[in-house]
Amino acid sequence: MTYAARIHATGDADAFVWERVETGPPGPGEVCVRQTAVGLNYIDIYMRTGLYPVSAMPAVLGMEAAGMVDSIGDGVAGLEIGDRVAYGMVPGAYAQLRCIAADKLLRLPDAIDERTAAAMMLKGMTAHYLLYRSYRVQPGDPVLIMAAAGGVGLILCQWARHLGATVIGCVGSEGKAELARTNGADHVILYRHEDIAARVREITAGEGVAVSYDSVGQATFNASLDALRPFGVLVTYGNASGPVEPFSPAVLAPKGSLYVTRPTLATHTATRALLTEGAERLFEVVENGAVAISVNQTYPLSDVSRAHRDLEERNTTGSTVLIP
Ligand SMILES: NC(=O)c1ccc[n+]([C@@H]2O[C@H](COP(=O)([O-])OP(=O)(O)OC[C@H]3O[C@@H](n4cnc5c(N)ncnc54)[C@H](OP(=O)(O)O)[C@@H]3O)[C@@H](O)[C@H]2O)c1
Repeated sequence: MTYAARIHATGDADAFVWERVETGPPGPGEVCVRQTAVGLNYIDIYMRTGLYPVSAMPAVLGMEAAGMVDSIGDGVAGLEIGDRVAYGMVPGAYAQLRCIAADKLLRLPDAIDERTAAAMMLKGMTAHYLLYRSYRVQPGDPVLIMAAAGGVGLILCQWARHLGATVIGCVGSEGKAELARTNGADHVILYRHEDIAARVREITAGEGVAVSYDSVGQATFNASLDALRPFGVLVTYGNASGPVEPFSPAVLAPKGSLYVTRPTLATHTATRALLTEGAERLFEVVENGAVAISVNQTYPLSDVSRAHRDLEERNTTGSTVLIP
């Protein structure tokens, strides 16, 4: 027996029930993890509201956590009881104890504590694939980052700067602007008041950006396209303002033979090789200090409703960690 935050139906932030659930023993290929820190992600909101489907009700939401191996199922090699581990993009994280396929786990380096790990596995591996795979950032590239002071956003700003990019961050308030600047943004656009594409043209002397990393979706999609240079890439990877409306690919031609991609971390971690490549690069930049992980909010996991409200109402910055 353990406690978990479950939803019994989709709904608003009050949909969670903190209740006792059955867990384990681990099946073949699985381990049970005693979780000490759970990451909050915007995808948890999409699942809670029903924008993204959940497989069955009641459902334990949450995709990212860290903790210690508590018990080990048959056929698992390379992990021992007590090992510190973490994961991202595996549903079922809002729990004190959970069983999980062992091949989804990464053993944590000594230098990375569990709260930091829970704050960065999903968000940091997302930043990795965005910067290395969706569009491979080159030194000198001007790049545009939406929600630059958010969880993924602060990691992206620092990592893009580390790769030599000129970082233009879009944020919702002056306070967030300051935070984006101290985390690597060379220029900041207050996109609630300013015209994104016009400001980008001003900053880039008319050229436009090589790539727009757009997690805001509906509200910024067209501005992202208009901010790109010829052959530029729009990576639309989230829907914080709502899903992007259907559009005609024909619009991409006159705007400069543009590219649009809509990736998910699920594909980018689908094999052990893809997963470990992303995790190793992430551990490296965190361990060498190129990227600092900001845990700017913590809540008891039993109070996850409040955390969801704060994230949804744009009141958080950086990463949020829930304590089981
Ligand atoms: N496709 C993938 O593989 C993948 C993986 C991870 C995350 N994501 C996406 O990346 C985004 C960031 O995730 P996160 O967990 O780090 O969240 P987050 O960025 O910390 O929070 C979302 C931010 O979006 C901005 N926003 C703009 N319009 C909004 C609106 N109408 N309602 C709410 N927020 C709005 C807000 O910042 P401002 O106030 O500064 O505008 C808000 O703080 C999410 O869209 C998520 O779905 C995608």
